[in-house]
Amino acid sequence: MDVLFVTSECYPLVKTGGLADVTGALPLALAAIDVDARVLLPAYPGVREQLASSTTTARIDDLFGGSAALVEGTTAAGLKVLLIDAPHLYDRAGGPYNTADGQDWPDNHLRFAALSWVAAEIGSGRLGRWRPDVVHLHDWHAALAAAYLHFDESKPSRSSRPATLLTIHNLAFQGVFPETSLDALRLPTEALTKDGMAYWGSLSFLKAGVRWCDAVSTVSPTYAREIVTPEDGMGFDEALNERADPLIGIVNGIDLDVWNPETDPHIAVNYSVETTSLKARNKAALQGELGLDTDPRAPLFCVVSRLTQQKGVDLLLTALPRLLARGGQLAVLGTGDRKLEKALQRAVKKQTGFVAAVLGYDEALSHRMQAGADAIIVPSRFEPCGLTQLYGLRYGTLPVVAKVGGLADTVTDIDTVTDGEGATGFQFTPVDSDQLATAIDRACDIYETPTIWQRMMHHAMTRDVGWDTAALAYRALYEQLVQARR
Ligand code: ADP
Ligand code: GLC
Repeated sequence: MDVLFVTSECYPLVKTGGLADVTGALPLALAAIDVDARVLLPAYPGVREQLASSTTTARIDDLFGGSAALVEGTTAAGLKVLLIDAPHLYDRAGGPYNTADGQDWPDNHLRFAALSWVAAEIGSGRLGRWRPDVVHLHDWHAALAAAYLHFDESKPSRSSRPATLLTIHNLAFQGVFPETSLDALRLPTEALTKDGMAYWGSLSFLKAGVRWCDAVSTVSPTYAREIVTPEDGMGFDEALNERADPLIGIVNGIDLDVWNPETDPHIAVNYSVETTSLKARNKAALQGELGLDTDPRAPLFCVVSRLTQQKGVDLLLTALPRLLARGGQLAVLGTGDRKLEKALQRAVKKQTGFVAAVLGYDEALSHRMQAGADAIIVPSRFEPCGLTQLYGLRYGTLPVVAKVGGLADTVTDIDTVTDGEGATGFQFTPVDSDQLATAIDRACDIYETPTIWQRMMHHAMTRDVGWDTAALAYRALYEQLVQARR
């Protein structure tokens, strides 16, 4: 079984969030069960240099306004990668989606149409020597490949095309552009109907994927149930409900090699479920690093997050007085919304020694936060899966989470089980600052009873959070889609 992953980011080459973690780890888990999964992504600056080896295998004369090359290579971890080397689209200083000052690149529709177009060409066997059985599209950046394959006139028969799967990692990002961009995307006018990719007076890349992929999945069963409702469907519930097959929810795993407290090179002291007392040394180191009081008894809560409306960090700022009143400390690592960043800075200034905030993106510090904190707070208004609570489980850093999406599926609240058996954390619903404060209170109560807290750490650290189960589920799905094509 050969599968082409199509994505705009992939750990460790380029990452802004969990999408990269998934596309960097799932192909490796699939390789272990005999699925040859390769990852196609843009050659942003510095990406090719990170590959252990690479060669140019094909050339494209005109890729949306310039020439391009396909580069094949492998990362140090053994991930097989295909890069689109198209300097006119991707070789610029700034992020994958925006300029250094946070503005979307004005030609994003072309940048990600190009990614999608190359995916469709590889999928049809017209580019490079390798031809996948399945093209697995991740989020809107890749979703237009479904349109290119659907309207591909040279391959009219269904069985001569690869099977296609769209995974929605976050429905808030829909790839919406003016209808007038259709020509530039090199798609026929028939694409722009209500049954196609027309979307409330605009066009949407994601909608192309929802309409024309053989199957659509998302990253947890609860999120799959949420987004087919008008309340949480973000304008997509109708399109999702109109599909004949149900939306599939498969919970993400985490890379157990990258996120392993026993071997993690970024943390002060390595520890395991057998040596959890060593976690205290990571806590002291983190407190020292961030300028927090080095008090071993203060429950230390952390947050590692993009700072956006989705992530609910504003709710935490409102609940902060309760956390501090319980003698707690808060450490935040995040970047994003300027207003939230300023509010965090004000909180640090007011409560120096008890609140710390690092405003930026720092992979190594994110590991030290997981190793050093007692608990991780994820107060998201919605969360397709969420990975930081999974890292928390693996590091014995108990999650305090909103009961939504994947957070509902991956954390077991102590109040929902008998005698605390299997409890790994704390959940709250509805998602507001009062309920969050109550959950923090409950966590502080348990923290004062170390035997129970220790037991919860044990449950958390031994919970299966790897990729094996999900990889088997994806393989079964690929097999089903390929069968249906025959
Ligand atoms: P999302 O993809 O919505 O941002 P996830 O929880 O799925 O949420 O994944 C977020 C990923 O990004 C995690 O690997 C997390 O550790 C990482 N991350 C988020 N913000 C930062 C930051 N400021 N510094 C380092 N890592 C971060
Ligand atoms: C998205 C979601 C997050 C999920 C990640 C990986 O960015 O916001 O919940 O964990 O994708 O699937």
